[in-house]
Amino acid sequence: MKSEALLEVKNLKTWFYTRRGIVKAVNGVDFTLSRGECLCLVGESGCGKSVTALSLLRLFDSPPGKIVEGEIVYRSIDLVTCSLDKLRQIRGKDIAMVFQNAQSALNPIFTIGDQIIEQINTHLDLSHEQALEKARTLLDKMRIPEVDRALKQYPHQMSGGMKQRAMIAMSLSCDPCILIADEPTTAVDVTIRAQIMNILQELKRGREMSIIFITHDLSLVREIGDRAAVIYGGRVIEIAPVERIMNEPAHPYTRGLISCLPDVSSDATRLPSIEGNTPNPIDMPSGCPFHPRCNSVMDVCRSVLPEITNILDVHAVACHLYSGSGK
Ligand SMILES: Nc1ncnc2c1ncn2[C@@H]1O[C@H](COP(=O)(O)OP(=O)(O)OP(=O)(O)O)[C@@H](O)[C@H]1O
Ligand SMILES: [Mg+2]
Repeated sequence: MKSEALLEVKNLKTWFYTRRGIVKAVNGVDFTLSRGECLCLVGESGCGKSVTALSLLRLFDSPPGKIVEGEIVYRSIDLVTCSLDKLRQIRGKDIAMVFQNAQSALNPIFTIGDQIIEQINTHLDLSHEQALEKARTLLDKMRIPEVDRALKQYPHQMSGGMKQRAMIAMSLSCDPCILIADEPTTAVDVTIRAQIMNILQELKRGREMSIIFITHDLSLVREIGDRAAVIYGGRVIEIAPVERIMNEPAHPYTRGLISCLPDVSSDATRLPSIEGNTPNPIDMPSGCPFHPRCNSVMDVCRSVLPEITNILDVHAVACHLYSGSGK
């Protein structure tokens, strides 16, 4: 693995101040991302994956959302405190995002071609013809048939899979060095899904693009990820190279997630699942947020939040089983 950290996220907390209370959606996330690396963010629905991704570019709803603590360092710039002008230069150009819901991320009143060209014109100094040619090439790379027709279409005239690929083309239009892809294959069928995964692999290898890939599908993590960060209750509770996480998961939650993977060789008729519910981000359990569901729970887990600690150079876990406090 390469060591140069392109992005460093430290103790990031993004909270939403709602009438029901404070939603601690992201509650102390730490990770680094290297050049050419694909880091997967995994975890159950509602654990804070999308809010983490949106926080990197300050794209969450604000108000009610606010980054209350933490740093996001990209090439010595703290994206939490830098000016909005600076952030706008970085958004789409250096760091681009494929949103979880392509449908709502595309503007319904402009054609796909206009939207891609607008994105290119915001950041690159190209003539209209050059921008149009770039848009054509991008859609072609996404294996969109009849590119010239697609450029003239409005989002509602496209299928879900087509919109998803157009969205990816748009995000790649300014050759970003970091692509944040939030569940980029959920709305597409298996063939398109395989194509999108191939395109992302090519970009990673060919251009050394770094990818933050968000998914709850561990088979995709195996396919594309170099490292995986498991998120629970708005925090990274385990981070390690994918092979290591899959073969030697350390946190009881990660072990549960992996054991929920379907085993084709087994004749079991029911998939195992982790008992209990994900924590309520307005009213997090005391101590370790996973303790009410944990088979290995100890007294200390009920009152003390475990810090993330290295159990190997490349493998860190936030669990009292490894911190020494429970032994
Ligand atoms: N605008 C908002 N206002 C209030 N709460 C929000 C807002 N956006 C997200 N949340 C809450 O923050 C928490 C984390 O949401 P997030 O969308 O990050 O989950 P996720 O891990 O991406 O889940 P999924 O797998 O379903 O996409 C959830 O409890 C969600 O309800
Ligand atoms: Mg999400």
